[in-house]
Amino acid sequence: MADMLDAGERLNAQELRELQLARLRDALEHAYRNVPHYQAAFDKAGVRPEDCRSLADLARFPFTTKADLRENYPFGMFAVDRSQIRRIHASSGTTGRPTVVGYTEGDLDVWADVVARSIRAAGGRPGQIVHVAYGYGLFTGGLGAHYGAERLGCTVVPASGGMTARQVQLIQDFRPEIIMVTPSYMLTLLDEFERQGIDPRSTSLKTGIFGAEPWTEQMRAEIEERFAIDAVDIYGLSEVMGPGVAQECVETKDGLHIWEDHFYPEVVDPLTGEVLPDGEQGELVFTSLTKQAMPVIRYRTRDLTRLLPGTARNFRRMEKITGRSDDMIILRGVNLFPTQIEEIVLRTPGVAPHFQLRLTREGRLDALTVRAEARADATGEERAAAAQAIGRAVKDGVGVSVGVEIVDPETLERSVGKIRRIVDERARTQVREG
Ligand code: DLL
Repeated sequence: MADMLDAGERLNAQELRELQLARLRDALEHAYRNVPHYQAAFDKAGVRPEDCRSLADLARFPFTTKADLRENYPFGMFAVDRSQIRRIHASSGTTGRPTVVGYTEGDLDVWADVVARSIRAAGGRPGQIVHVAYGYGLFTGGLGAHYGAERLGCTVVPASGGMTARQVQLIQDFRPEIIMVTPSYMLTLLDEFERQGIDPRSTSLKTGIFGAEPWTEQMRAEIEERFAIDAVDIYGLSEVMGPGVAQECVETKDGLHIWEDHFYPEVVDPLTGEVLPDGEQGELVFTSLTKQAMPVIRYRTRDLTRLLPGTARNFRRMEKITGRSDDMIILRGVNLFPTQIEEIVLRTPGVAPHFQLRLTREGRLDALTVRAEARADATGEERAAAAQAIGRAVKDGVGVSVGVEIVDPETLERSVGKIRRIVDERARTQVREG
């Protein structure tokens, strides 16, 4: 294994910090000189790129948010001439303008390298077949995975998302060793294998590289068991690059190593913005160290996690993401993430790994109903027991009462990409008082 590591992965702690500082100073300079937004933001905060003399000095620089990207729509955050931009991606976002990102030829090269490194860390090897079922298009998942797999020397099947029956056929016929897909769409594929009477454990697949949405250890166990594969986590976001910012190593499966030679992580208190020491939970913030087209300085991801020391690699790890601050439900003063419900639903007998969270309003209070799907063979008694068990586990583990509805098999919406867990019907169910 060690002989397969690339130059970046072989750096020791001190070499890495030196490389990071040199690259960070260049990145700050590049952003300040070439992007009016950064020039204005640094000036307002009274800092200059040359004020960054140590990695800790980064904390003196202002954050960048999604709102900053939106305000500079479409190309205002680019630091190079438009003619140097080789590719555009965009994330749809729920409201208003999409967030647009751009890549130079050099950026695309680095991106392919970090995704190739990710697939290798997941256990992938040159010569293997990689089935890519992340969506192709403006979303970074499909093309990001694609060029990384090619860079590693794999054969790519660019299946993209959707047409689930055909996906199963392609997997049966082409016999890929690796699949790259969202964990929720992997469950949709699981149902389809079973519908076609194919044992999901009998496929050629050995490894699944799952990301683009939060998923839990319970989900890992479910997917590994039902497909007889290794399931590892890949993280990224379009603003910072796309998939391949961090990757879990198959030999340890203990959180994701951040490719820190290109992406510098901080974890901050989401309310005060104060940098937290490694090990403490907070909001993940990234500064790109090598990106040319669209450098990002202290970008607020809204993803919640903590930084941990390296294990299988020298780079620091981030713990599996608990959730996005946007997806946090505050129910009668208690904070709740969909991943907490996932853990509970997946360990409850009688229910399938499909669930949805329905938010409604009863009077002045928000109410949450967990809708979980019964397993096909569950009896009425088992369904009732499951409802009780889920309600009790949420009450005991999260500390709040929720309603539980066990719905019939195959009734909840299935994922074809990123799944939507929360169905917010509060506006519709609002009952005015007085
Ligand atoms: O989802 C990039 C990607 C594609 C990552 C394929 C992995 C695999 P965006 O559409 O910009 O980019 O969404 C980024 O998705 O801020 C997280 O909230 C979430 N996310 C991505 N990976 C993970 C993960 C892609 N492994 C947003 N675990 C991020 C939890 C994830 N959340």
